[in-house]
Amino acid sequence: MIKPEIVNDQYIVQVASEDHLRLAETICREMEESAKARGTGIAKRSPIYVMEKMLEGKAIIATTLSGEWVGFCYIETWDHGKFVANSGLIVHPDYRKSGIATRIKAKAFELSRTMFPTAKIIGITTSLAVMKINSDLGYQPVTLSELPADEAFWKGCQTCANFDILTRTNRKHCLCTGMLYDPEEHKKEEKDEKWNFLKESKLYERWMRIKNRILLRLNPSERSRSRRTEREMEVA
Ligand SMILES: CC(C)(COP(=O)(O)OP(=O)(O)OC[C@H]1O[C@@H](n2cnc3c(N)ncnc32)[C@H](O)[C@@H]1OP(=O)(O)O)[C@@H](O)C(=O)NCCC(=O)NCCS
Repeated sequence: MIKPEIVNDQYIVQVASEDHLRLAETICREMEESAKARGTGIAKRSPIYVMEKMLEGKAIIATTLSGEWVGFCYIETWDHGKFVANSGLIVHPDYRKSGIATRIKAKAFELSRTMFPTAKIIGITTSLAVMKINSDLGYQPVTLSELPADEAFWKGCQTCANFDILTRTNRKHCLCTGMLYDPEEHKKEEKDEKWNFLKESKLYERWMRIKNRILLRLNPSERSRSRRTEREMEVA
């Protein structure tokens, strides 16, 4: 379960639910307005699509404590779950540059890792802010050919103002940079994190004491040696 996070006693960042359906239209309008303002284009989303994501538990929303929307992002899967994308990131203009997108992306990342632990997490963006956030999460820039081959994935680009660039270059280049987080490459770090000897040492010591006791019962000749070891461990 992904826990809601309260930021600076001002915002809640959480997995969106039916409580947030009323915000879908405003969010989509802002996505479109922001895309126009940037002039770089963005895949167009319908309020129905955004609502579906909310109902499926595949969206992250940031709101004020009184329920006004502050930011949003959702996740989608491609190539039969081989890839998961965190898409449609948007922060309300009044709340930008205060770390909201960073919090939303971190939650979307957590949600993606929980729901699809073996999937590669991907993103395509022209935004420097997003590249920075992704890179802090462990994404690496990749060529577009490393992204899903799935036609449906690229269909999302059709409503972008730069779609002709993508088609002209046979999907090799566009203004967006592709980024990818490969869980295989981070496996070792995660393993190390799971077993932190310093944090778990009390548990480890207890386990060793129990083990010693069992061994004592099994082999009387070892008894005195094991007792000594046990005492040493209790003292350490
Ligand atoms: C891009 C966007 C989501 C960033 O949201 P935000 O809440 O302002 O981002 P954050 O405050 O979390 O900033 C994250 C980092 O990017 C940097 N950053 C923010 N806006 C930036 C900008 N316009 N240019 C360069 N860097 C920027 C921040 O300084 C921060 O870096 P730091 O951690 O070193 O301080 C927001 O500007 C937005 O909604 N834009 C319109 C929609 C859009 O472009 N979406 C992305 C589509 S892929």
